[in-house]
Amino acid sequence: MTGPLDGKVALVVGAGADGDAVSIGRATAITFARKGAKVFAVDIDADSAQMTARLIEDEGGAAQAYGADASDPGQMEAAVSACLETYDQIDIVDNNVGIMAFGNPVDLAVEDWDRVMLVNSRSHFLACKYALPHMVKRGAGSIVNISSIAAIRWTGAPYHVYNASKAAVIGFTKSLALDYAGSGIRANCVVPGFIDSPMMRGGIAQRHGASEVEAIVRGRAEKCPLGRLGSPWDVANACAFLASDEAAYVTATTLIVDGGVTASCAL
Ligand SMILES: NC(=O)c1ccc[n+]([C@@H]2O[C@H](COP(=O)([O-])OP(=O)(O)OC[C@H]3O[C@@H](n4cnc5c(N)ncnc54)[C@H](O)[C@@H]3O)[C@@H](O)[C@H]2O)c1
Repeated sequence: MTGPLDGKVALVVGAGADGDAVSIGRATAITFARKGAKVFAVDIDADSAQMTARLIEDEGGAAQAYGADASDPGQMEAAVSACLETYDQIDIVDNNVGIMAFGNPVDLAVEDWDRVMLVNSRSHFLACKYALPHMVKRGAGSIVNISSIAAIRWTGAPYHVYNASKAAVIGFTKSLALDYAGSGIRANCVVPGFIDSPMMRGGIAQRHGASEVEAIVRGRAEKCPLGRLGSPWDVANACAFLASDEAAYVTATTLIVDGGVTASCAL
């Protein structure tokens, strides 16, 4: 049996998770490995990247953990170099880092606007900046960037800077795809909806209090035409498809993984 990612090396940025929880990045790293890729798992929390790598190795996969702030140019340049030293190639870049700040433009501190824009857009830019020369030399590569339905729909809460930063990810991905199509490199965006992850639950708890989390999660699930929240594995499977040669003719697209919610009037 061969997997669709056999022989490929995937740089997954934001591959950790809170404790032993499953985030989108951790699920993606594990899914890539299950489909045959060697995974270089980067996270600002080196221990959580290590945990992801251990989970992959426990299943018989290959992974290397690396601690780096994905918004820091020096650290990301070093991370890409370390990936190349470890595995000699990079076929896939999966940019998964995303943070949130709550507040409308009047309330939100300028520093919070800058911090979220910087982390959410610069992290995607930097991984590409340092991995692209290698991909261009090989004439191949697949970049998968993670946006959000918040980039394309009002989701009912004032996460203005998050929404703007996720729209930037879509714009960046499209320009990447067109600029590098002639070099054999594809770039696509995955646009998750309401995904049951530590980030989502943490955001709800911060805004409404921990006691409200279950009720709000249930309410969101009811709004999804498929009747449930997405899981990190749903997003991971979409990333794996776009990363693989099965998506050889797919570039510059946004793949919405939201159980139908953005097509509905009920959001
Ligand atoms: N959970 C959702 O409902 C949802 C919906 C749409 C989009 N998304 C997007 O999916 C992505 C993953 O979301 P998640 O819910 O798994 O998030 P998460 O917070 O659970 O995981 C994100 C990981 O990124 C790491 N990280 C944060 N800042 C970093 C930095 N500067 N450098 C390196 N690593 C850093 C964190 O340590 C964490 O391990 C994010 O981009 C998020 O915006 C999530």
